[in-house]
Amino acid sequence: MLVHVPRLLSREQVAEIRGVLTGTDWVDGRVTAGAQSAGAKNNLQVPENAPAARSLGDVILGALGGNPLFNAAALPLRVFPPLFNRYDTGMEFGPHIDNAIRFVKPSIASGMPIRVRTDLSATLFLTDPAEYDGGELVIEDTYGSHSVKLPAGDMLLYSATSRHHVTKVTRGSRWSSFFWVQSMIGDEAARAMLFELDTAIQGLRGRYGDESEIVALTGLYHNLVRRWADA
Ligand code: NI
Repeated sequence: MLVHVPRLLSREQVAEIRGVLTGTDWVDGRVTAGAQSAGAKNNLQVPENAPAARSLGDVILGALGGNPLFNAAALPLRVFPPLFNRYDTGMEFGPHIDNAIRFVKPSIASGMPIRVRTDLSATLFLTDPAEYDGGELVIEDTYGSHSVKLPAGDMLLYSATSRHHVTKVTRGSRWSSFFWVQSMIGDEAARAMLFELDTAIQGLRGRYGDESEIVALTGLYHNLVRRWADA
């Protein structure tokens, strides 16, 4: 599943985040990579526990909470605190699959380590396509290979089970926030069906209002979520 969430952040929010990131320390991106992906990874990241990363992460979490498309597609249970990365000219990230389980550091999670099963991966673009060449996010799934580069403020949500890479940046610098989502619906096919059903119901409601059959379909949607969700 690939879902493009347009304008998750406003231009003002993107500018504010970039302003803060400009003044922070960046480290080698391999700090959060698994053993296999470390060999493929060449980029820069803001350290996970940097205060700037946490306050900017909260801005993003707030935007996610208020975004109907994100909530319909992800049915989120937990969101990993957003991280920030940067690919300067010459940097890239070769093909890999993200780790299945991520641990939120105890210092961030108020003393208790929190496990996040990475059902979905998210990339929130913080630089516009005109600012750099290369740097495409390429995702391989059962339907083939998808190359994605979105406007600053837009987010791509994709299945964390898919192999992906970021092509080499050949001009400029590509900045983004990235994080993972544990969905209430662990089964990918079930989650995709719920999203389709929800989208169809929203369309019908827009056209016909709350006809009794639409109320029944809405009930069916909620009863399926009740049956399948971890909460
Ligand atoms: Ni990845």
